[in-house]
Amino acid sequence: MSSLEVLFTPAESLNLSKRDLSETTCVVFDVLRATSTMVTALWNGAAAVIPVEEIEEALALRQRQPGVLLAGERDGVRIGPDLTGGGAFDLGNSPREFTPAAIQGKTIVMTTTNGTRALRACGQARSTLVGSFLNLGATADSIRQSAPIRLLLVCSGTLDQAAYEDVLGAGALCDLVWKRYQDGHVADSACMARELFQQSREDLESALSRSRNARRLLSRPELQEDVAFCCRRDSFPLIAALGKDGLVTRAG
Ligand code: MLT
Repeated sequence: MSSLEVLFTPAESLNLSKRDLSETTCVVFDVLRATSTMVTALWNGAAAVIPVEEIEEALALRQRQPGVLLAGERDGVRIGPDLTGGGAFDLGNSPREFTPAAIQGKTIVMTTTNGTRALRACGQARSTLVGSFLNLGATADSIRQSAPIRLLLVCSGTLDQAAYEDVLGAGALCDLVWKRYQDGHVADSACMARELFQQSREDLESALSRSRNARRLLSRPELQEDVAFCCRRDSFPLIAALGKDGLVTRAG
């Protein structure tokens, strides 16, 4: 029987290594901003994004592959020399930085506080998709077509807490695939996420702006436009998937 579940917190995703995910498709949401940024990068022509957990892993990858770009944040801002012991990363985690001129044809190694960690936690899944409002419809279409038996939506969260915007994103996807899963095992978490989205769908941006992450971004003049950017539903209709090789690439 099919199942639909949402994981709200990072603690739940860290436990994924104890679950059998061999029949599970995961969709990871870090709406503000890591998964929105990856989708933007792929839409604008990046060859691939490699999500890694630690700054040291990113630096080691660049040593082996000098052509890659390094991207990511700590405390929301681009990783600087204070954290690398050398130069600053090439890019931060604002999707607006990932223009065609900056990233076309490039492989980008990315480390962020929560989003890249959540993606890596899904490594054993049958397949893992990268979800955001920017590619929501295309992701839902792909799920309707492939009809995975178990669908698990993973919210990356903020530090060790649930993040409002990720639950909204997961709820929006639940809403789009509901018919496919409603007669199976639907977890309460999926009902909760869907209901939250349904209450907010008429004014997504103002709902999302109440989140802790959005408030932090909105308080920084150079980052505040990221919030509206990440709410632009279906602007980049692509499917992004994490392969067994650890690369996030366009799958459609
Ligand atoms: C994360 O991965 O924790 C976020 O994307 C943080 C951010 O907004 O940069």
